[in-house]
Amino acid sequence: MKKIHIDDLHMDPVVAIPKEWMLLTAGCEERGYNTMTASWGHMGGIWGHGGGLPTTVIYVRPQRYTKEFVDREELYTLCFFSEDYKKDLAYLGRNSGRDGDKVAKTGLTPVFGEGYTYFAEAKVVLVCRKLYRAPIIEEGFLDKSIIDDCYPNKDFHDMYIGQIVEVLVEG
Ligand SMILES: Cc1cc2nc3c(=O)[nH]c(=O)nc-3n(C[C@H](O)[C@H](O)[C@H](O)COP(=O)(O)O)c2cc1C
Repeated sequence: MKKIHIDDLHMDPVVAIPKEWMLLTAGCEERGYNTMTASWGHMGGIWGHGGGLPTTVIYVRPQRYTKEFVDREELYTLCFFSEDYKKDLAYLGRNSGRDGDKVAKTGLTPVFGEGYTYFAEAKVVLVCRKLYRAPIIEEGFLDKSIIDDCYPNKDFHDMYIGQIVEVLVEG
């Protein structure tokens, strides 16, 4: 993978995140890592000046094993893949790292950096530094139908805003 400037990153987050999905990964070789599939999230700018800091927003339910790693670590990565890996992403989104080494059941190869992990097969990797965490709260919903639709068990996500500090692309 090669490092590029964020300005040279050309991707459509409206397609990439909800339709093609991504892997959210936190942790590293020394402390251990975990990964899960995510299809809810955003990319854009906030804080800083001008267009804001390049940032991602992710949403993680409390019961995800990956959440323990996201909460513990300063960094998380978002990995995007070609269609060839959709089956692996589906697997990693149905199985928990609590029950064993789920990555070993896929064709994906972890690559360890300084305080983060990504996958060699990714076409794009965003390394993000956590800036902000907040719970989604019931009182915040202006459209209450979303509560019944997405939270019948009231297991509201935590949202995290992370500054994109490194962009890696294949090649
Ligand atoms: C397509 C897809 C998208 C998903 N998106 C999210 C998400 O955005 N946030 C979330 O908390 N869980 C999401 N999940 C569920 C987790 O990936 C799933 O519960 C996973 O098994 C958690 O693994 P872990 O316990 O090892 O962290 C998604 C699952 C799939 C299949």
